[in-house]
Amino acid sequence: MQENLKDRIQEQQEYVDKVNKINLGKNLKYIVLTMGCQLNENDSEKISGMIEEMGYTRTDKIEEADLIAFNTCCVRENAEDRLFGKLGEVKKYKEEKGTIIAIGGCMMQEKHMVEKLKKSYPFFDIVFGPHTLYKFPEDVYNTLTTRKRIEDILDIDGEIIEGLPIRRDDKIKASVAIMNGCNNFCTYCIVPYVRGRERSRKAEDIIKEIEGLAKQGYKEITLLGQNVNSYMRVEREKGEDVGQIDSFAKLLRKVNEIPGIERIRFISPHPKDFTDDVIEAIRDCDKVCKIIHLPLQSGSSKVLKDMNRKYTKEQYLQLVDKMKNKIPNVAFSTDIIVGFPGETEEDFEDTLDVVEKVCFEQVFMFIYSRRVGTPADKMENQVPEEIKHERFNRLKELVESQIELNNKKFVGTKQKVLVEGKSKTNENMLTGRTDTNKVVNFEGPDELIGKMVDLKIASEHMWYLKGEI
Ligand code: SAH
Ligand code: SF4
Ligand code: F3S
Repeated sequence: MQENLKDRIQEQQEYVDKVNKINLGKNLKYIVLTMGCQLNENDSEKISGMIEEMGYTRTDKIEEADLIAFNTCCVRENAEDRLFGKLGEVKKYKEEKGTIIAIGGCMMQEKHMVEKLKKSYPFFDIVFGPHTLYKFPEDVYNTLTTRKRIEDILDIDGEIIEGLPIRRDDKIKASVAIMNGCNNFCTYCIVPYVRGRERSRKAEDIIKEIEGLAKQGYKEITLLGQNVNSYMRVEREKGEDVGQIDSFAKLLRKVNEIPGIERIRFISPHPKDFTDDVIEAIRDCDKVCKIIHLPLQSGSSKVLKDMNRKYTKEQYLQLVDKMKNKIPNVAFSTDIIVGFPGETEEDFEDTLDVVEKVCFEQVFMFIYSRRVGTPADKMENQVPEEIKHERFNRLKELVESQIELNNKKFVGTKQKVLVEGKSKTNENMLTGRTDTNKVVNFEGPDELIGKMVDLKIASEHMWYLKGEI
């Protein structure tokens, strides 16, 4: 199997060389438009890596590009709408100068969406999915040589492919996928259908990648997966030979030992898999940030059951308490869906209650969006749009008042900040983040970029803090 995979990567290398020959001297440009989550961004960095090897250089101007690659998301309807909007815009480039239009990502795993593209946006050249991402050089070669439309989608789960080139967007922070897919089948969620079954990367490959990043000067690593704290569980259950590092807790401890890396984050864990060994690893590992993203989704035990989340309101709150007791200064962020089918006013108040009790540092709030093929889409008691919006706004108000309170607590304290670069809104300021992911802007010399600095927090604003050296 391993040999077979190596052969397939080698084969793609040959396509890279062939495309390079065709493109020689043409000074071609590309752009990748990323529409999804951090895993999607990580895939985009791999798509960019492959495209650059084929001789294209990056541009930020879509009108300049000779190759436009979309990396789509289908987790909610608005992610899909964004694609259609952009496709309308790029049609003219295709007509004017033959720009290659490639569409990849999760949405391409949905048959009805590919059909819609063929019907309403037939000018695209390539569709490809997350399972066939590594074959992108072959797709581009075939497009250039045949000018036929290419559909490169695989229905079965893709294997984990190691060794793809990667062009990272940042020089200080990097994300590393530790697993693919999801086996949880929360009833609202499309991800298990489009990303396939859960499978973990070998620890040695992950460690090697992070060691390489540390050598290049990266300081912060985010470990990515749909359910990171079940790392290697499927493989363990199947009795596969997974080596020494066969759990998320062990992986965290190992990554914590890598010299040069100063901060470790991970996203997303699942509350049902938050075993004590993981909590203890977070406590013991000095580099692991003490903010935990703990997706709640709903505060109502009844809704949680209908969502197939496998924990109750009480269990969630107990888990938070346990972590607060075991990990000094721990903080939390979360994801919440409002308007899941059958959510009553009382259920929604349970959500508000949990938000009040936990006092999250950050809440990602979503209005429930019906996804074709998921069990929740077939539920009869869908919540009317205006009620969803009204609840969303009430939740937002509560969250914002809490953020304000949380921010006030920072004023006057000393914070360690990893300096990420110049502030986007003010050239004279530097910007960085605290352990708990709060943005801090401050005045300082450029040499500090990429370093950890101690700052005193002078004032707070809704979305950032102001610091002083
Ligand atoms: N595996 C990750 C999340 C992936 S999707 C996890 O479990 O945390 C990111 C977030 O999108 C989810 O946490 C959920 O809050 C939201 N989401 C997923 N499907 C949704 C839907 N159909 N409608 C609205 N929000 C959704
Ligand atoms: Fe979706 Fe649930 Fe899997 Fe997260 S854990 S990707 S919400 S099915
Ligand atoms: Fe991510 Fe969207 Fe796919 S959230 S996993 S890009 S459906």
